[in-house]
Amino acid sequence: MDHFEEDLVEALKEIVRSGNWQCVGSKSKFKSPCTKLYSDDGEDIVLVHTEDDRFWAMDSSCPHEGGPLDLGDIEDLGDGRLALICPWHHFDFCLDTGASSTGLQNQVYDVRVVDDMVYINTQSSLSLSPIPSTNTAPQENLLPVEVASNPSENTLCFWATKVLCTADPKEKVALTKEIQEWWNSGKITEVGEATPPAQPSRKDNLTVLEPGKIKRGKGGTQASRIALLHSLANIEQWAIDLSWDVIARFSEFTLNGGNSLPRQFFSDFVKVAGDEAKHYQLLEERITELGSYFGALPVHNALWQSASDTSHDLLARLAIVHMVHEARGLDVHPQTLSRFATQGDQRSVEVLEVIYSDEITHVAAGLRWFTYICSEEGRNCLTTFHELVKLYFKGYLKPPFNTEGRKIAGMTEEWYIPLVKPSS
Ligand code: FES
Ligand SMILES: [Fe+2]
Ligand SMILES: [Fe+2]
Repeated sequence: MDHFEEDLVEALKEIVRSGNWQCVGSKSKFKSPCTKLYSDDGEDIVLVHTEDDRFWAMDSSCPHEGGPLDLGDIEDLGDGRLALICPWHHFDFCLDTGASSTGLQNQVYDVRVVDDMVYINTQSSLSLSPIPSTNTAPQENLLPVEVASNPSENTLCFWATKVLCTADPKEKVALTKEIQEWWNSGKITEVGEATPPAQPSRKDNLTVLEPGKIKRGKGGTQASRIALLHSLANIEQWAIDLSWDVIARFSEFTLNGGNSLPRQFFSDFVKVAGDEAKHYQLLEERITELGSYFGALPVHNALWQSASDTSHDLLARLAIVHMVHEARGLDVHPQTLSRFATQGDQRSVEVLEVIYSDEITHVAAGLRWFTYICSEEGRNCLTTFHELVKLYFKGYLKPPFNTEGRKIAGMTEEWYIPLVKPSS
């Protein structure tokens, strides 16, 4: 037996010994650079095949904000190692270790090629085509399309719907601030009712692309900072809409016992809407100071998907939008901040710090109303949260967690650690 055959036999033995190696097909199937493999546990994988015929595998959902790494580019890190670059904000993930220079970490998987067949070491079942979901969450967009025909004009819901139907972000911000003032001063007293639009309005000149289709030039450091701020401004614009949507859509929500939501629920989300408007404005001003403008770059509207998926279930909405996505925003804050700090962009650092301290209160608001509803309805908060996240959020929650920020918001580890992928 020559050396090569011995290696082959040893490799085959190892695969047989370990039950976690999965054959995903012959290597000719996997064109360079990336192929997405769908996983039965929702944590899809990107298989990287380089020109020099080497393979790597990592989670395909970017640990930053869920960007599609399978649409990313491969870059040399300069020390012989290669990285996969996320197409959304250009964070790098080393193919060998999954580590990013931003401090984030992606899950990597061992890959072996034996006899021209590709094997990945993972417990999940992988497929080249999407695996039908086995959860019972409604898949279609259930948001009603029409705005209610005769809403009373002096209600919070009437105005909430107005913001959602306002396309210009500057007008969205101005109107949000006015409504907040009217609500706080008692000029509006009724919550009222309204049917919010299925999708908030956006300006025609804003290029909204499918998630994953955003390709930005590499640019210098200023260009990459503008791109990151632009992306955050886009998130804040959606966050304004999400706040008004939760108010309008769930204004008539009744608890199991028949009670309506307390008035404080609406006051809390008016405050959240006001904060999001402030955040958008701060970021927009900063982008302008740096010589660009909001709308200069394409944006994605992936965030609204969570609103659509949870349009019929307030607990799910609070869990996914505020306790998963907004809490994730706290997790990535330290890395984002250090990107600006290391480039000496102190003004952006100040803006990000204002946003961060407000965002803690948004996670706290989501958690507060989630636990309120659960306790009023006699449900176990933690079990309900874990069930809803498994139902409505694709994949696992990923470290690193901002344990301190989450704790200030009231979210201790028992909320999120059980939702992390078990180590194989
Ligand atoms: S989502 Fe990947 S870098 Fe932001
Ligand atoms: Fe915000
Ligand atoms: Fe927020």
